[in-house]
Amino acid sequence: MPAKLEGKVATAPPRPSRVQPVAVSELASTVDAHLTAPDRAHTAVSGVTLRAQHVRAGDLFAALPGARAHGADFAEQAVARGAAAVLTDEAGAAKVRDVPVLVHPNPREVLGTLAARVYGEPATKVAVWGITGTSGKTTTSYMVESALRAAGRTTGLIGTVETRIAGERLDSALTTPEAPDLHALLAVMAERGVTDVTMEVSSHALRLGRVGGVGFAVAAFTNLSQDHLDFHPDMEDYFQTKALLFDGRARREVVCVDGEWGRRLVKPGTVTVATTGDADWTASDISVSATGEQRFTAHGPDGLVFEVELRLPGEFNVANALLATALLHLQGVDVESIRRGLADVQVPGRMQRVDEGQDFTAVVDYSHKPQAVALALAAVRARATGRIITVLGCGGDRDTAKRPLMGEEAARRSDVLIVTDDNPRSEDPAAIRAAMLAGALNVPDEDRGQVLEIGDRRAAIEHAVNLARPGDVVVVAGKGHETGQEVAGVVHPFSDADTLAHAIREVRR
Ligand SMILES: Nc1ncnc2c1ncn2[C@@H]1O[C@H](COP(=O)(O)OP(=O)(O)OP(=O)(O)O)[C@@H](O)[C@H]1O
Ligand SMILES: [Mg+2]
Repeated sequence: MPAKLEGKVATAPPRPSRVQPVAVSELASTVDAHLTAPDRAHTAVSGVTLRAQHVRAGDLFAALPGARAHGADFAEQAVARGAAAVLTDEAGAAKVRDVPVLVHPNPREVLGTLAARVYGEPATKVAVWGITGTSGKTTTSYMVESALRAAGRTTGLIGTVETRIAGERLDSALTTPEAPDLHALLAVMAERGVTDVTMEVSSHALRLGRVGGVGFAVAAFTNLSQDHLDFHPDMEDYFQTKALLFDGRARREVVCVDGEWGRRLVKPGTVTVATTGDADWTASDISVSATGEQRFTAHGPDGLVFEVELRLPGEFNVANALLATALLHLQGVDVESIRRGLADVQVPGRMQRVDEGQDFTAVVDYSHKPQAVALALAAVRARATGRIITVLGCGGDRDTAKRPLMGEEAARRSDVLIVTDDNPRSEDPAAIRAAMLAGALNVPDEDRGQVLEIGDRRAAIEHAVNLARPGDVVVVAGKGHETGQEVAGVVHPFSDADTLAHAIREVRR
């Protein structure tokens, strides 16, 4: 799970408007489930969900065994809401009354296949591009999507930051939705004319069968490094889970072989990508301009060579861009569209520029670790002619050791640092700020900028904008794309980019 995943309210995900109902008997035989009440074999199913509160009339309610409760404990509620049938295991079946039950020893394993069947195999109507790996999934997805749009395709996007359907935006609650929600979403996308869906596929999603029943047009692997070892017993298990995306469920496979894990995924037919060493796709002549833009030469199969421009800073983004390039080329996107897509791409909340026609630069960045703060501010310094004005806070209920370090890095690299609140969660926000201020003020006067404290994040952003002069850079760091601020168990709507844009418009008036 991403380190900063916020507690979001589970709103009901969208459903397609046209579904051809399927008989429970047919669903049972599709996955070899035992059907109770054979006299009601014709009962029609027109939707699937695993949350009782989201049940619509005619749904198959998936009652899965969980760590704390059994989904079947909610079957009565689901049936009262109109569930037509229930999918569950032997233990769950004993708790269900009044509707036919599909009994399967591992209902989670077959849930994706059933949802795909009910929603008319939507993954065959849109091309699904799956991207997995420890880092770079979101970034690579946005790169791919940007080039697809440049090529005139109608795109969908499913990932950490948001879900997008042909330009319309939905908030994402999970990086990869549960299987019934995913197939419903793909069906909605198909209805709205989407041709290509770019999707981040997390290891949780693969292990928990959330992408079950999805045939991928193409699968991509970025890299693997230590992460999520709270979920996987060791690296080998983590790797084997990621490798599930390459078990034949994708028609084509593209793998970055810069690391040893990627090399293990290569088999005949795999398209390989490397920024160091040999591969089907390589990069040379990487250069970074004074303004932070990057350029490199991409070398592909059959002597294909072209230059790529990228507005995103950071060496790792060359690897992401090369991977995106290989994917796009394999799927028939022309070089010109690839180049235009990569040159334009912005990733929400990751060094995201906010431009309201002002005469200074404004940036929102997701950096919420000391090293990330340092890297982000160093990248900004390279292109600033004026001062750097930073707004930064630290989250509560998370690693406390990083607070003084983040304060220190920000104070060292800013001309003005405004220490503010991030997501205080259950903690006293003043105490979090005090820890950051201690680090900031520990930096000798001559090595640091002016340090201010404004707890209210909106007021802090407004103050930064009021201070800004031509050539300055305002950096609002820590929360990136997040759309809420969590205070004492309540998530209040809050967007750094929107707040910053609003403050800039006010000043310009
Ligand atoms: N190819 C890469 N190699 C190493 N680090 C990377 C790479 N791409 C991105 N990063 C780093 O990881 C951070 C997150 O990038 P991104 O959001 O694209 O990853 P992600 O795989 O979607 O992560 P998550 O699992 O949180 O959804 C970036 O800000 C950057 O610091
Ligand atoms: Mg992501």
